[in-house]
Amino acid sequence: MEREIKKIGIMTGGGDCPGLNAVIRAAVNTAVYQYGVEVVGIKNGYRGLFLGGDQMIPLTPDTVDSIIGEGGTILYNSNKDNLFRYPRRDRNGLVHDEHGKIVYDDVSGVAVENLKANGIDALMIIGGDGTLTSGRDYSRMGVRVIGVPKTIDNDLNATETTFGFDTAVGRCVEGIEYLKTTGQSHHRVMVMEVMGRDAGHIALQTGIAAGSDVVLIPEIKYDIERVTQKVRSCLLSPKQYCLVVVAEGAATPDGNKAVNIQTSFAPDGQKYGGVGDQVAKAIEHILNHTRDDDGYAISETIMDVEARAVAIGHMSRGGSPSAFDRVLCSRYGSYAVKALMDQQKYAHMVALHEGKLTTVPLEDVIPSNQMKSNFRPVDVNGELVELAKTLGICFGD
Ligand code: F6P
Repeated sequence: MEREIKKIGIMTGGGDCPGLNAVIRAAVNTAVYQYGVEVVGIKNGYRGLFLGGDQMIPLTPDTVDSIIGEGGTILYNSNKDNLFRYPRRDRNGLVHDEHGKIVYDDVSGVAVENLKANGIDALMIIGGDGTLTSGRDYSRMGVRVIGVPKTIDNDLNATETTFGFDTAVGRCVEGIEYLKTTGQSHHRVMVMEVMGRDAGHIALQTGIAAGSDVVLIPEIKYDIERVTQKVRSCLLSPKQYCLVVVAEGAATPDGNKAVNIQTSFAPDGQKYGGVGDQVAKAIEHILNHTRDDDGYAISETIMDVEARAVAIGHMSRGGSPSAFDRVLCSRYGSYAVKALMDQQKYAHMVALHEGKLTTVPLEDVIPSNQMKSNFRPVDVNGELVELAKTLGICFGD
């Protein structure tokens, strides 16, 4: 029987993430070696799909041969090109209407035409919730789509694990190890802000793996007084230093997130960053406010509390993927091609359930137009939070 699919297009969307290249490599090798089909790489995410032409490049086992351990994506990424709502531009930049609002067009049809023009019979979309939302919408337009779940945040409900998370946690743990040296040497409070948006998975697993004292996550609102009590007890203990991990989306009980930078460059209009600094400053302020009769905030060796904050930021999602992620990516990339070719699983996303590969319908992954519908937060009653508490980690609650 002649197969429906003779050429597969692959694109990466959203933020970069360790393992994107490993997925591409596995998909290309599987497509070519197992099924004898051609593969085309679409550069720059949905923008490349819109532009067509030289944005479409042939991918062969030779071109992807050595990329398994390379960070980033050989296809480049774009995380603000929703072709269903594409901001209109002219020589002055973004076009605004008479009320000052940006004018958007639906240019998705252009992308479908470009797929046809390049003979692409199916599209593999490697991305997070925003990218997969468009993937679902293309499948509604008749495009054969298979999704691969990507995000260091590990906050997609439809799969147990997204690739990139293991690498990000590993890098954060390594970062804490370096901070620990200074913490120990100077009896300081070392605060590390980690990524994760509204989910605390990276912070929680980093905190446990790095043996930190405080972990602040968006799912558990923190009271700075509680945090400070814990810090104080660490500084008074024989170790005389304190390690704090703060998720970038951590919030105080009144729901205040530290810094939400409003921007048109983020899919949901917000970029997080700065909470680590705020927490460090608050700890210093509170602990240095009360002193004993000799003027010491803590003790003779810690006269004044010093709290230093570092945001590991993009360093946690750049660079080479971990061995775990390379294997996961190879599984995802290969299985995605098999799902297309053997099972005609169009409009699906590959996923991991109880350690086994499977597919889930994109309509279930992204059931509505709301970006957060597929969101998986940290289970605050789950085993890992309980473990952390048992180990003495303070969440500030
Ligand atoms: O979703 C992945 C992520 O790295 C988040 O953890 C972070 O808030 C965001 O992307 C940063 O995105 P950008 O690089 O566009 O600022």
